[in-house]
Amino acid sequence: MAITSQMTLLLSLFFSVYIHISASTESDFLLSFKDSIDDPLSLLASWSNTTTNHHCNWTGVTCIATKDGLSVSSLNLQSLNLSGEISATICKLPNLYHLNLADNLFNQPIPLHLSQCGSLETLNLSNNLIWGTIPNQISQFDSLRILDFSRNHVEGMIPGNIGLLKKLEVLNLGKNLLSGNVPFGVGNLTELTVLDLSENPFLASEIPTGISKLIKLEQLLLQSSGFYGAIPDSFKDLKSLSTLDLSQNNLTGVLPQSLGLVSLEKLVSFDISENKLFGSFPHGVCDAKGLMTLSLHTNFFNGSVPNSSTSGCLNLERFEIQNNGFSGHFPDGLWSLPKIKIIRAENNRFSGKIPESISMAKQLEQVQIDNNTFISKLPQGLGQVKSLYKFSASVNGLYGEIPHNFCDSPVMSIINLSHNYLTGPIPELKKCRKLVSFSLADNNLVGEIPHSLAAFPVLTYLDLSHNNLTGSIPKELQNLKLALFNVSFNGLSGEVPQSLITGLPASFLQGNPGLCGQGLPNSCGGNKSKHEVAGVSKMVSVIISLALSLAIVILIAGVYVMFRSSKQNSQMGAWRSVFFYSLRVTEQDLLVAMDDKAARGSGGAFGKVYIINLPSGEHVAVKKILNFESQSLKTLKAEIKTLAKIRNKNIAKILGFCYSSDALILIYEHLPKGSLGNMIASPDFQLSWDVRLRIATGVAQGLAYLHQDYVPRLLHRNVKSTNVLLDENFEPKITDFALDRIVGEAAFQSSVLSASSGSCYIAPESGYSKKATEQMDTYSFGVMLLELVTGRAADEKIESGEGEFLDIVKYVRRKINITNGAIQVVDPKISNSSAQQAILRALDIAARCTSVAPEKRPPMCEVVRALQSL
Ligand SMILES: *[C@@H]1O[C@H](CO)[C@@H](O)[C@H](O)[C@H]1NC(C)=O
Ligand SMILES: *[C@@H]1O[C@H](CO)[C@@H](O)[C@H](O)[C@H]1NC(C)=O
Ligand SMILES: *[C@@H]1O[C@H](CO)[C@@H](O)[C@H](O)[C@H]1NC(C)=O
Ligand SMILES: *[C@@H]1O[C@H](CO)[C@@H](O)[C@H](O)[C@H]1NC(C)=O
Ligand SMILES: *[C@@H]1O[C@H](CO)[C@@H](O)[C@H](O)[C@H]1NC(C)=O
Ligand SMILES: *[C@@H]1O[C@H](CO)[C@@H](O)[C@H](O)[C@H]1NC(C)=O
Ligand SMILES: *[C@@H]1O[C@H](CO)[C@@H](O)[C@H](O)[C@H]1NC(C)=O
Ligand SMILES: *[C@@H]1O[C@H](CO)[C@@H](O)[C@H](O)[C@H]1NC(C)=O
Ligand SMILES: *[C@@H]1O[C@H](CO)[C@@H](O)[C@H](O)[C@H]1NC(C)=O
Ligand SMILES: *[C@@H]1O[C@H](CO)[C@@H](O)[C@H](O)[C@H]1NC(C)=O
Ligand SMILES: *[C@@H]1O[C@H](CO)[C@@H](O)[C@H](O)[C@H]1NC(C)=O
Repeated sequence: MAITSQMTLLLSLFFSVYIHISASTESDFLLSFKDSIDDPLSLLASWSNTTTNHHCNWTGVTCIATKDGLSVSSLNLQSLNLSGEISATICKLPNLYHLNLADNLFNQPIPLHLSQCGSLETLNLSNNLIWGTIPNQISQFDSLRILDFSRNHVEGMIPGNIGLLKKLEVLNLGKNLLSGNVPFGVGNLTELTVLDLSENPFLASEIPTGISKLIKLEQLLLQSSGFYGAIPDSFKDLKSLSTLDLSQNNLTGVLPQSLGLVSLEKLVSFDISENKLFGSFPHGVCDAKGLMTLSLHTNFFNGSVPNSSTSGCLNLERFEIQNNGFSGHFPDGLWSLPKIKIIRAENNRFSGKIPESISMAKQLEQVQIDNNTFISKLPQGLGQVKSLYKFSASVNGLYGEIPHNFCDSPVMSIINLSHNYLTGPIPELKKCRKLVSFSLADNNLVGEIPHSLAAFPVLTYLDLSHNNLTGSIPKELQNLKLALFNVSFNGLSGEVPQSLITGLPASFLQGNPGLCGQGLPNSCGGNKSKHEVAGVSKMVSVIISLALSLAIVILIAGVYVMFRSSKQNSQMGAWRSVFFYSLRVTEQDLLVAMDDKAARGSGGAFGKVYIINLPSGEHVAVKKILNFESQSLKTLKAEIKTLAKIRNKNIAKILGFCYSSDALILIYEHLPKGSLGNMIASPDFQLSWDVRLRIATGVAQGLAYLHQDYVPRLLHRNVKSTNVLLDENFEPKITDFALDRIVGEAAFQSSVLSASSGSCYIAPESGYSKKATEQMDTYSFGVMLLELVTGRAADEKIESGEGEFLDIVKYVRRKINITNGAIQVVDPKISNSSAQQAILRALDIAARCTSVAPEKRPPMCEVVRALQSL
């Protein structure tokens, strides 16, 4: 007895010591792992043995109880901004099963030494900066079940012996730079449930036939890579497949006739869009009847014919085969699947009907079958699908009348039935209050435009052109916020509501000889003006493409263009606005926000600029212009649109404008760091030379773009450092450009130029030259470059040393003509830097830009090259 109790004591002593040792060594391994890691945000602060915190409680550490006490089983250190080296000491943890270092900044080759981790089953290095090739030794990771190297820079071929990772269940190499052929050995990974090789644009491979051996595969993701050739016949063996994505490859050939029937059974998502596949779709896909015929031919179902509820596809939610060259009969069974949400087959040559049984597709959200040869009536059943939000079937052979319940889905927002053979009247549509885009163009519709259309609150795009509509245009349509209104080539007559002619929507009215109104060939009252009509249609055709592409962008990408009118506001006068981006404010919000708190600067040309913080958190700069030339509204809009279309990273965007009869409000993008001018003027102006050079180069690129690349070519005419905004990375954006085009030359001269007369930004020839030139912009740019080099604001007068006060240009000119003078003008904060040579060359560029003789100034594109060479 005594002996036993002594033994017990000894044993328990031994165990407690053992546990203690094992615990402290595990924490030492962790600490030594941490030693080689950079943890800039100190998110691993809890990893420390100075505290009493047990290492199993450290950030990201999970332990399991083993017979020897607690032991680390999992390290989850994802998304901690870690970098440095992944050290092999981690492998001394005997029970480490899971290692997740995803979403960090590890920048190294694949850490092969981790194959020493004998227990490791999961290795996740997704979304790091891992580079280099996958070495043959990858086969040493033979204990792994889950391997995720996705979203890195792994390159080269996939080694053949990857097939030796026999236990692998998940292999994700997506979004890397892999190249070449996918080895046959992949077919030996028979435990795989997920294989992701997507987004490897340099792969050039056929789909390896060995893939058919992966019978446990549930997800096969090969999209947006370089797969070519045919889809192998053996796909039919992938019976567990639920997600198949082969989209955006170079696959070609016909689909194997066996495809789908079996494999579709568990399939949820099927996407083979954007390939070069052709031929008819396998017979009877997702179709009970088809299944029967097929089963008799192939004997696959071994005599027992499945009934419709046991047939394939019952789980299918997504079916995307668009942008291929398929032909033949579209699989009928698809239309009535209980879970189907998306059917996309546009841009093929399918024939077929849309059956009444579509009403059974209770989850259907989106149908796109444009540009096929469906010959069908529109089924009544469509109106019973209450989840449908998009139905696009343009360019087909749809005929018959549009059913009255057609737009009954409460979420319906996009309907495109253009270029078909629909007849009869357009039914009064009432229930689809979310309708945004409605196109029935180029059918054989008769009757009147339904008045109910005017009641749709968000209708933006309405195209009824090329039909046989008669009657007048309902006045109520004026109330819509339309971006496009096209009723051309119908038999409409009567007076056109004024705002549909001169208002903001791109209006298409031609081809309706009976229509009358101001600016149309027939004016309802009497006097006509052919000239003006030509103007209207020209302007219309100029903005048609803009309007169309904007409309498409609204609908598809969710980017929003809103044309609002707010005639109802009597207090502030009638304001109208055009927003080129979604701002989610009204002109009233803007006017209210333009108070003294938001005002910036001392005013300058055209009064104050207001910086306004939008509900979205964005900043906009708002400039109110009072005295501008009364250009016609159309000219004004066209000019602002011209400027708003500029897309250059160094040019601030015009987000929109509002106008009333006597004022114009321009809305520019604004950046929270504010302007370069303010920065230079502040006493603690501190930017390094590299940053200054980047700013100068950016501004020069922006100007070169305006001068040379944009059509029409533009002049800025007001270059100065306060018109250069900086983003958080000090990338510059030029603002306030080409105002002359908006306000008119005379108003521009009298405000902008007079406000800055005497400013040293103005080129000397401006006083006598009638015409504005690129060289004048170059001069102003040169002055700004001098500000960057000298660290002095342009309007600061500088004591020359001889009791004289000079502006920056004269001062520099005088100094650089004396020995060693150049270096004296350089901002002392940067003059000692190693970049002294570059700084002096930049000073030389600035001096050339500010040459008195315009012809000696280099063009901006040359300035860009010169600055880049520094
Ligand atoms: C942790 O503690 C051990 C012994 O208690 C000591 O040897 C080691 O230096 C400590 N490590 C750190 C990083 O403080
Ligand atoms: C971890 O912390 C909790 C509470 O903070 C504590 O109850 C537990 O004992 C700690 N675990 C270890 C192994 O020290
Ligand atoms: C993490 O690193 C990224 C990239 O360097 C950086 O953009 C991000 O701000 C960092 N996150 C934090 C919280 O510092
Ligand atoms: C790897 O980690 C990333 C980031 O958390 C995660 O999205 C991904 O699903 C993980 N991979 C696997 C195979 O679990
Ligand atoms: C696949 O496995 C088989 C049988 O285990 C073997 O003979 C073959 O060499 C392996 N193929 C590859 C490419 O690894
Ligand atoms: C598809 O093939 C064509 C020529 O056959 C080639 O130009 C193109 O780059 C390939 N596209 C992809 C995504 O591999
Ligand atoms: C078909 O049935 C026969 C006998 O009933 C059976 O031996 C065979 O395995 C079945 N084939 C399939 C594919 O199920
Ligand atoms: C079809 O099969 C299901 C499940 O196997 C069964 O419940 C149903 O009664 C069958 N229907 C017919 C018409 O045979
Ligand atoms: C219509 O589809 C065919 C393929 O069937 C394609 O070649 C053609 O470009 C498509 N037309 C449009 C306008 O996309
Ligand atoms: C409607 O379809 C036609 C023809 O495919 C297309 O040109 C037009 O842009 C579509 N309209 C919308 C709003 O998408
Ligand atoms: C449309 O009107 C034109 C001219 O009135 C007529 O020739 C044509 O047959 C009409 N089409 C239909 C489908 O009614």
